[in-house]
Amino acid sequence: MNIKEYVALRKEELKKEISSYKRLPQFVIMQVNDDPASNVYIKGKLKDAAEVGINCELRKFDIDISEEELIRQIEIINNDPSVDGLIVQMPLPKHISEDNIKLAVSPKKDVDGFHPLSKLDPCTPKGIINYLKFLKVDLVGKNAVVIGRSNIVGKPMARLLLKESCNVTVLHSKTTRKDMEMYISNADIIVVAVGRAEFLNETFTYKKEAIVVDVGINRVDGHLVGDAKSGLPVQLQTPVPGGVGLITRLTLLDNLMEIFRNEI
Ligand code: GUN
Repeated sequence: MNIKEYVALRKEELKKEISSYKRLPQFVIMQVNDDPASNVYIKGKLKDAAEVGINCELRKFDIDISEEELIRQIEIINNDPSVDGLIVQMPLPKHISEDNIKLAVSPKKDVDGFHPLSKLDPCTPKGIINYLKFLKVDLVGKNAVVIGRSNIVGKPMARLLLKESCNVTVLHSKTTRKDMEMYISNADIIVVAVGRAEFLNETFTYKKEAIVVDVGINRVDGHLVGDAKSGLPVQLQTPVPGGVGLITRLTLLDNLMEIFRNEI
């Protein structure tokens, strides 16, 4: 089943579940930028929430808001019993520390799973594992290579693959080309999140049964391309667009619902 079909199926299930409750889940998105990419993501998140019956409110703040004031606004939501979960859309303006903001969101309402005390895992890596399990991909003892070491994707992805008993290698900008080639040629699962258009291409060799999960979204000449060139000679490659982005949005709903089910 492809990602679009999988996401549609999972959303139908969530919609049915939500319609069985007496009150609707309440979700708040805080936005402190007017970044075009963020606007697109937020539009998608609002649409998804509406589709499954989650009440979602967008609170936009002036780009000049101070860190202290933003934290005060987060605390208002933390203490509002009518709100189940919240996210603060990243990136934030340079004068605001993303780490401080991640720590300000109550771990009880942290739909992104960014707080160190959050019981939820970050949406992109968690959603990727859920999708691979849905496809019945056997992860135990498999060679998993994660390319990129960001806090949002690379690091938690490596941790979750390890939890599934993969042999995990994390490659990054300081990895030599020779080592990249060696690890990639031996990989069963490759998760690429480097933010470089078509970084994985035909100049590498792959196992023909390999699975490539492409987390990249790069704009090239007005269209979107992933971190992997489409049509690699592998068993399965997730598309861009219409791939991991949809999985991340779905997992945001999953995380919110985990909080909501605990509340009621
Ligand atoms: N910006 C890009 N991806 C994300 C995400 O998963 N969560 C938040 N809060 N901001 C983002």
